[in-house]
Amino acid sequence: MEEKKIIFSGIQPTGVFTLGNYLGAIRNWKNLQNEYNSIFCVVDLHALTVRQVPKDLRHQTYQAYALLLACGIDPEKALVFVQSHVSGHTELSWILNNYTYFGELSRMTQFKVKSQKHEDNINAGLFDYPVLMAADILLYQANLVPIGADQKQHLELARDVADRFNNAYSPTFAVPEGYFGKSGARVKSLQEPTKKMSKSDTNDKGYILLLDSPNVIRKKFRSAVTDSDARVAYDPENKAGIANLMEIYQAITGESLEAIETKFEGQGYGAFKDAVADVVIGELEPIQKRFEELMSDKKGLEAIMKEHAEKASRMAVKTLRKVKKKIGLVQV
Ligand code: TYM
Repeated sequence: MEEKKIIFSGIQPTGVFTLGNYLGAIRNWKNLQNEYNSIFCVVDLHALTVRQVPKDLRHQTYQAYALLLACGIDPEKALVFVQSHVSGHTELSWILNNYTYFGELSRMTQFKVKSQKHEDNINAGLFDYPVLMAADILLYQANLVPIGADQKQHLELARDVADRFNNAYSPTFAVPEGYFGKSGARVKSLQEPTKKMSKSDTNDKGYILLLDSPNVIRKKFRSAVTDSDARVAYDPENKAGIANLMEIYQAITGESLEAIETKFEGQGYGAFKDAVADVVIGELEPIQKRFEELMSDKKGLEAIMKEHAEKASRMAVKTLRKVKKKIGLVQV
């Protein structure tokens, strides 16, 4: 157990997860948990960087936790906990702030995008978000971080901060690598297939949520934006909508893009869209069923949350003690 490499990843409880979250991240977590010492986190503190309704955040945190388990994250194999239950994340985050530059944070694409979206609330937390993310990762000495393509820049920053700290003192943090799946790392909006699929999209036809009913899923795929060419062929530049649907189909079935082209040759977009809807519905059905069972036992969820947070805290404390010693903080 001990010599296995460590993976860490996190997800925000800002609503029901999308198919993008699932194919870009959660599904890879599930597959990697057998090979690595795995640590997965519901990052509720990151969610605070955008104003939340307290009772919704509370509900969504249970929901996010139950969804991870329903998607196949096994609490017997992996640690799964809620970020705010382990105080080491915020503690290390404060320390790492002093090793991160204003200029670096100003260059973060997500900060720029979110600042535009929330012009009335460009708070310090939003700016500092990537440092908390670096703390999440570095606290557990993670070697590998399975994420979607949109988080790559944040991971690079975590690596830079780790290197900077290690060079200033002595090797303290493992320098993490990103892990991106062969398919699904960049699932696009069904309505604007050049943008990423995101639950904060104002048009709900742009995303599939893991708890959408089969009917809703079918309708959303049927209204997906395509082109007038009527050929199922992989051409992301000129046929972004079809390319996105093909990638979703590939990510779920494992079939190659060429095999998908051949399979749907001579068939219209209608038939192809229905086929994509079918595989997605098939994939989500057991997850939805398991989710309902888990959510009906909140006390059961809380018991797992608590046990895992305690284990995570013990790991976190080890790194924090090392860090504090190196920088000259007195520990008694
Ligand atoms: P979040 O909550 O936005 O997304 C969770 C994971 O889902 C991936 N993802 C996607 N992948 C493919 N296609 C998409 N359309 C898509 N949308 C989202 C994200 O890349 C991510 O892997 N900052 C992170 C959470 C975080 C974290 C961490 C991740 C906090 N601390 C430490 C890794 C390690 C975030 O907001 O992800």
